[in-house]
Amino acid sequence: MISWLKKRWFLFRWRRVARVWTVDRLLETTDLDLSSSERGELEYGIHSWRQLVPWYQRRFGGVPGGEIYCFGVAHGSTVGTLVRGFRSRNMPVPAMHLFDSFLGLPEEEPGVAVPDIWMKGAFSAPRNQLESMIASLGLPTDSYRIHEGWFKDTLKADLVEAGVFKPAAYVDIDADLYNSTLEVLDFLFAHSLIRPGTIIGYDDWGDTDLWTAGESRAHKEIMEKYGARCAQLLHWGERPLIRKLFLVVSVEKR
Ligand SMILES: C[S@@+](CC[C@H](N)C(=O)[O-])C[C@H]1O[C@@H](n2cnc3c(N)ncnc32)[C@H](O)[C@@H]1O
Repeated sequence: MISWLKKRWFLFRWRRVARVWTVDRLLETTDLDLSSSERGELEYGIHSWRQLVPWYQRRFGGVPGGEIYCFGVAHGSTVGTLVRGFRSRNMPVPAMHLFDSFLGLPEEEPGVAVPDIWMKGAFSAPRNQLESMIASLGLPTDSYRIHEGWFKDTLKADLVEAGVFKPAAYVDIDADLYNSTLEVLDFLFAHSLIRPGTIIGYDDWGDTDLWTAGESRAHKEIMEKYGARCAQLLHWGERPLIRKLFLVVSVEKR
């Protein structure tokens, strides 16, 4: 009963932030000079934040030939928003690597806090949900690759050596947990796939206490490990719903 109440309380607070932090407040946190019709393109309000990624790619030139890496895609919303963003800017959609277990969340690292709604298996959705979104977007089959399984199994060094994984223009983290985020970032930095010019977006920065759990802790540890520096491109929301976008400025260690 207490756990049921805690879940309801978490969702109540999460939905309140989504309501109170309107898209205008998101735009206040960016230095993009959008016209009113461009603002109107943000059709799902704050949930459209990924539509700003192409703007930043255009501004910073990104990583030439860089690809998109999305972690946590089963529901199709991440892919849908990103693709619409590129198309509405008349920009080509970069090749996309789409990673998900389709089994929902794994267990978090013992001792690391999680919100009550993040139980094992939470947010699972079948692969055909993602495939339906891709079909509705009409993405050519050679423009994306679905990597089904746990990140630790699908992020293979062989695929870097074979040239399947190319440097990342954009990395989208929507896998919630500290351990999932750490695995992904560690692999991408260790194989020089994240480099200066890569943009990294976090969907669940604020769901946990900051710096001791969740995406913020993984980000901090990995930036320290690889001596990487980032510039913050946007910050939106307050706990428990914070979205962040960073530009990698420099990386010292490999
Ligand atoms: C909140 S959902 C993401 C929703 C997302 N916006 C979308 O478009 O589907 C989190 C996703 O991360 C996946 N996930 C989390 N940790 C993972 C891991 N270590 N390996 C594989 N998938 C993982 C889950 O299966 C789940 O689909």
